[in-house]
Amino acid sequence: MAKQTTIQEFESIFPKLEEVLLEHAKKYNLPEKELAWYKQSLNVNAVGGKCNRGMSVPDSVSLLLSRPLSEDEYFKAATLGWLTELLQAFFLVSDDIMDSSITRRGKPCWYRHEGVGMIAINDAFILESFIYILLKKFFRDHPRYLDFIELFHETTYQTELGQLCDLLTAPEDVVNLDNFSMRKYSFIVIYKTAYYSFYLPVALALLLLDTPATEGNLKQAEDILIPMGEYFQIQDDYLDNFGLPEQIGKIGTDIMDNKCSWLVNQALAIVTPEQRKILEENYGRKDKAKEAVIKKLYDDLNLEQIYRDYEEKFVVEIRERISKIDETEGLKKGVFEAFLSKIYKRSK
Ligand code: IPE
Ligand code: MN
Ligand code: MN
Repeated sequence: MAKQTTIQEFESIFPKLEEVLLEHAKKYNLPEKELAWYKQSLNVNAVGGKCNRGMSVPDSVSLLLSRPLSEDEYFKAATLGWLTELLQAFFLVSDDIMDSSITRRGKPCWYRHEGVGMIAINDAFILESFIYILLKKFFRDHPRYLDFIELFHETTYQTELGQLCDLLTAPEDVVNLDNFSMRKYSFIVIYKTAYYSFYLPVALALLLLDTPATEGNLKQAEDILIPMGEYFQIQDDYLDNFGLPEQIGKIGTDIMDNKCSWLVNQALAIVTPEQRKILEENYGRKDKAKEAVIKKLYDDLNLEQIYRDYEEKFVVEIRERISKIDETEGLKKGVFEAFLSKIYKRSK
């Protein structure tokens, strides 16, 4: 059976990609000081995460082939994995500014580093550009080069639509709980998270192998991975309040940021009129004491148990769907099982 990649193996590919990106900037005569900044932003923002998304590309390729990868195959698959990590880095640098976040991966958010501030906006754009520089460098002659480019563009667009809805549903100055609903929630999380975190790595693995990237297989993958991405973001929302900052590497901001989180939607479905009033008066305020009132309400409403019940139910359903996958065109159930086992009951 194909073995899973390790973070060490995956990270060992990165220096080669970094070298290409540095050489590329030198061709444009980027001055020394700016080159050092460019290198620093790349390292701080692209490296140091769990790399679940990135590592799923070589893992999926190996599962699709039912064998370990050769060195060249591994390099290609891991490079595509690193492109998903770069896309993620681009989104996270921007997302932390928009969400006024404090820490990311256990360190200050990039925009909060000494001397960075709003320069981080341009750094995010550069991180996005890296995707296409590396794609061209390593995949210009691949038969699916155009599909790779289109997939990255479409996934970026989908994520931006999700972020748009996330932000407009969470205005800083007006709290209106009627703006929240599970319908709205589904749209937000499918677009802001599921496509880039779940569909993208598997679609890249299929495209790399070319022949299994049929319309039917891509559609089957999407039908399983989008619900799995929804589950993943529900976990993220749960951990924002109930997780340990030292484990998740970030400090939750959803309550103060007035986010249409899974937790507030679950609360709204079960509150008494008195509890709804508490929500109205304390949710979405930049005030630690008001945040604590909401945290207490979440405990009183037993949201932790509601989450556990949801998780169990979801996992049974998704396993059932995975078992029904049609493998005749080369898709493998193992790809989805591997994904699920990486995130089931996660605490970080
Ligand atoms: C952001 O979702 C998703 C993207 C980065 C596109 P969140 O705002 O919930 O992510 P965290 O909690 O800051 O990581
Ligand atoms: Mn955020
Ligand atoms: Mn979050």
